[in-house]
Amino acid sequence: MSSIVYLNGQYLPLEKARISVLDRGFTFGDGVYEVIPVYHGHIFRLKKHIDRLNSNLDEVFIERPCDFTQWQEILQELIHQNSAEDHSLYIQVTRGVSERDHAIDTATKPTVFAMSRPLLKKDRSAGISAIVEEDIRWKYCHIKAITLLPSVILRHKARQAGATEALLVKDGNVTEGAASNVFIVKDGVVKTPPKDGSLLPGITRDLLVELLLDSDIPCEEVAITEKELRQADEIWITSSTWEIVPVVQLDDEPVGTGKPGEVWQQATEIYQTFKMGVSDDI
Ligand code: PDD
Repeated sequence: MSSIVYLNGQYLPLEKARISVLDRGFTFGDGVYEVIPVYHGHIFRLKKHIDRLNSNLDEVFIERPCDFTQWQEILQELIHQNSAEDHSLYIQVTRGVSERDHAIDTATKPTVFAMSRPLLKKDRSAGISAIVEEDIRWKYCHIKAITLLPSVILRHKARQAGATEALLVKDGNVTEGAASNVFIVKDGVVKTPPKDGSLLPGITRDLLVELLLDSDIPCEEVAITEKELRQADEIWITSSTWEIVPVVQLDDEPVGTGKPGEVWQQATEIYQTFKMGVSDDI
């Protein structure tokens, strides 16, 4: 069944959605995006996602095309028009159409695209394997830019190695995954790298830090060296669509016991309880 997408004010079948080849998203990767989960019709952490989108738009000098209520209306309509139990919403805003010129003077107005896909519940509770790669990305990793070539290459390298994710190291410290944030556990203490611009301030990451501290599980936002990563008792990755996934193998070596750890089990229960209890969270 064809899905209905939103493009510049219109709801239309995916196959009918068209943009100009001179859209700067196509010629320059000049835009930003968001991925937002929907559980039982409820958009999870919408306000946090829209806040991040707005601050990203401001940082790349693209005018904000919609206010919070307009985004909410667009996304609710997509949920309504695309039947699925749970959804993964995708928003993309580019600088719009212009001459192919690095200078942005001739760009007229942003292109606004949103779509919904069924959020498939793939069971990753047995854990995944990961590889360690050098973080080859740019300096503004706090911006969720559509310019994702390095991340695509890194994820492909993981696949070539028979792994699921690439965990990235910059100047000796862990930053994040190719499309996820990273947590480790050592001697009962959970650690995740601080939000210093070298990683995306993940909505799942931030919520998890909050939930762990509320549950009196020690959690620190501190630098993690590659050595600490390799000696961790547990490693997890987080994202809006994957939630919290244990990494049980790193570069062919088992992580801890080689099985999902006890702290991950606890963290995931806390997260699921929060998720199920939320009905009017925005
Ligand atoms: N990616 N870091 C990077 C580089 C990411 O691409 C993502 C998510 C995250 C996790 O952020 P959040 O918890 O807000 O989803 C961290 C999305 C899911 C994607 O690109 O599809």
